[in-house]
Amino acid sequence: MPQHVQGVIAPGRNEPVRVETIVIPDPGPGEAVVKIQACGVCHTDLHYKQGAINDEFPFLLGHEAAGIVESVGEGVTDVVPGDFVILNWRAVCGTCRACLRGRPWYCFATHNAKQKMTLLDGTELSPALGIGAFAEKTLVAAGQCTKVDPAVAPEVAGLLGCGVMAGIGAAINTGNVGRGDTVAVIGCGGVGDAAVVGARLAGAAKIIAVDIDDRKLDKAREMGATHTVNSRTADAVEAIRELTGGFGADVVIEAVGRPETYEQAFYARDLAGTVVLVGVPSPEMKLELPLLDVFGRGGSLKSSWYGDCLPSRDFPMLIDLHQQGRIDLAAFVTETIGLGDVEKAFARMHEGDVLRSVVVL
Ligand SMILES: NC(=O)c1ccc[n+]([C@@H]2O[C@H](COP(=O)([O-])OP(=O)(O)OC[C@H]3O[C@@H](n4cnc5c(N)ncnc54)[C@H](O)[C@@H]3O)[C@@H](O)[C@H]2O)c1
Ligand SMILES: [Zn+2]
Ligand SMILES: [Zn+2]
Repeated sequence: MPQHVQGVIAPGRNEPVRVETIVIPDPGPGEAVVKIQACGVCHTDLHYKQGAINDEFPFLLGHEAAGIVESVGEGVTDVVPGDFVILNWRAVCGTCRACLRGRPWYCFATHNAKQKMTLLDGTELSPALGIGAFAEKTLVAAGQCTKVDPAVAPEVAGLLGCGVMAGIGAAINTGNVGRGDTVAVIGCGGVGDAAVVGARLAGAAKIIAVDIDDRKLDKAREMGATHTVNSRTADAVEAIRELTGGFGADVVIEAVGRPETYEQAFYARDLAGTVVLVGVPSPEMKLELPLLDVFGRGGSLKSSWYGDCLPSRDFPMLIDLHQQGRIDLAAFVTETIGLGDVEKAFARMHEGDVLRSVVVL
């Protein structure tokens, strides 16, 4: 029997989000229905609401979640009802050309549920990143459920489902930060601070946090940044070079998603260094760089999808490190809120004192 639950939808471009009744079908083959316990508010949800990802309104927002598997469809063996899971938005297929070459974190054919969740009038919803977890329950592909230790609070575990994994992975997987490296992180929201945590975990010697808000910089320092730069009042490139003996950082992670911050990242890295773009740009943005500088400065320019993570490998590992006290995932939770507070949480994103607002159900 299809179920009726409450969920947060974005009805149209820049229209305020609202709580609506959502119809959740029974899980079909390879699918699971998950009872959501917590879901963080990520900047990507705001991008969806603004129409900056695509035009497939209405969206069922929310994609950074943990919960309990309620029911599974035919053929599902990896998870069973009652399992505590983090939802992931890149369930690898195992058969595409990336998977077959042994690079499943690049999987080009990731799985989502085949059936659609709808509004009461039958309007099909587009779940954000194939998840849609600002809702009491959601329907996903079973491969999107990654089982982890239920001893960790859902509002903490769920953060690994997007921003925190994206940031940590941008440093340790995509950027391949190593012991003794100098690292700069531009944009210190949830994703950027997670990159700071990842850089520290990987043994970076110097971690320079750059933001336009001093409160974000204070927080980045608590998370492990060794130096901070307010790029509203200082030139980010000059400041990073000064802090790295005049050379620039080995790895610069861009966690804003704008051409001007990308350009800063490009010029703030040392020769043969690495730029990692983890911030998500919008469709109209363009980048112009002298091709000779791209060539002459060497190194690599990389994008980081979901921190190039493998959920089944990385979620349990990071939960372990959290439980051992080697990383503090709870430090990312600024406030817990209700389903009706998502619009307010979007507004608070720009206020500077929030890393993550987490909807708790
Ligand atoms: N690649 C991925 O897999 C992935 C996953 C999750 C989120 N993201 C993206 O990462 C980005 C950050 O997400 P978030 O949730 O941390 O957002 P957020 O809003 O919490 O943080 C953004 C931070 O950037 C700072 N900022 C804004 N403009 C700046 C500028 N010009 N210079 C320096 N700092 C600036 C803000 O003060 C804020 O601290 C977004 O673009 C989001 O869509 C990417
Ligand atoms: Zn694949
Ligand atoms: Zn996200």
